[in-house]
Amino acid sequence: MNNFSFFNNTKILFGEGQIANLKAEIPTNAKVMITFGGGSIKKNGIFEQVTTALADINWVEFGGIEPNPHYETCLKAVERVKAEKVDFLLAVGGGSVIDATKFIAAAAKHQGDAWEIIQSFGGAVQNALPIGCVLTLAATGSEMNPTAVVTRADTQDKLFFNSDFVRPRFSILDPQTTYTLPVRQVGNGVVDSFVHVLEQYVTYPVNAKVQDRFAEGLLSTILEDGPKALLEPKNYEVRANLMWAATMALNGLIASGVPGDWATHLIGQELTGLYGLDHGQTLAIVMPAVWTYKLAQKREKLAQYGRRVLNINEADDAVVAEQAIVRTREFFESMGVKTHLADYGLGAEVITPVVEKLQAHQFTQLGERGDITPADVAKILELAL
Ligand code: NZQ
Ligand code: ZN
Repeated sequence: MNNFSFFNNTKILFGEGQIANLKAEIPTNAKVMITFGGGSIKKNGIFEQVTTALADINWVEFGGIEPNPHYETCLKAVERVKAEKVDFLLAVGGGSVIDATKFIAAAAKHQGDAWEIIQSFGGAVQNALPIGCVLTLAATGSEMNPTAVVTRADTQDKLFFNSDFVRPRFSILDPQTTYTLPVRQVGNGVVDSFVHVLEQYVTYPVNAKVQDRFAEGLLSTILEDGPKALLEPKNYEVRANLMWAATMALNGLIASGVPGDWATHLIGQELTGLYGLDHGQTLAIVMPAVWTYKLAQKREKLAQYGRRVLNINEADDAVVAEQAIVRTREFFESMGVKTHLADYGLGAEVITPVVEKLQAHQFTQLGERGDITPADVAKILELAL
């Protein structure tokens, strides 16, 4: 049903000063719409770098895309695209801006109700406007993948779609753009990229040695440099390694041939849709609870992670696995991302609404074995209080 693959052809321009090379990536005579968020790029000089690099290219701007971007905002952008006869979209921002731009690109070419794009998980997408990105936040991997997540504000439905048509043509990754990130977003980004790897790694063994070791390399890098980004926000090498790790974490590299869990993401998505928590915050809350609940099934991979990534030197798999959960929670907390619902003023009252949303979205068989039912989700959320 889904219209995408993870073997991709997004061109990456990585490194200091790469925004200056933007113009060569955009078709001559294009009418560009620069899409952006709440205005951080106008304060930190990135907007100016982008518009300088565009030189004599014809562009208009569409700002105000909110974190966890709204479907309703995207529809306004689509009207603008049509009115201005825009034929190239340039997303300048984090995952929210890039995801919104992917939806705008698909909706601008879609015949009929744009919500069909979401309802079909992207299967209804037959075409899209071309997209380029200037990434300003290392976290989601959206800069090199076919995925977008949008929220319908009136119904609190936060849902994703996938389509090769919306995969960015190019993405510019200048680690310097991330120097101005607020501490909260540094923490969110580190947790998100770390959890992306874990969702594709802490499942059950399939003897995929290459994928496992790629994953362990990414985890070790994020573990090592995440805390340094908080201490030294302008350390280029730290920012560069985190940015590259985040892109590699969700571009298909480590997904091929291995099972994926994604229960944490799907439960977390509902928490954001209903209660507005940041994406990274939901992951830090839910993942330790999923692992605790599924400890028996995940023991072998948790122990491998504990030994190879966290250097836990115990003989017994069960002990290593349990310590790995504790240490992962501590890592999230050390990045300033709290790991209990109570830390965000939420309690047991969220359980029924989250379970009902998952059911409404037909996410009723979660996890790498499809064995996490709505009743299990309720128990997982109890462990997350
Ligand atoms: O809106 P502005 O003013 O730009 O401020 C943003 C926003 O408030 C700010 N920011 C970004 N770059 C900055 C900066 N502030 C200062 N300096 C900079 N360089 O950071 C705030 C958060 O931005 P946002 O784009 O929302 O963060 P993130 O990149 O974490 O994206 C989160 C969204 O991506 C989705 C999430 O669900 C969420 O909606 N995801 C997308 C995925 C994908 N496409 O593959 C996968 C992920 O699992 C995730 O679901
Ligand atoms: Zn994520």
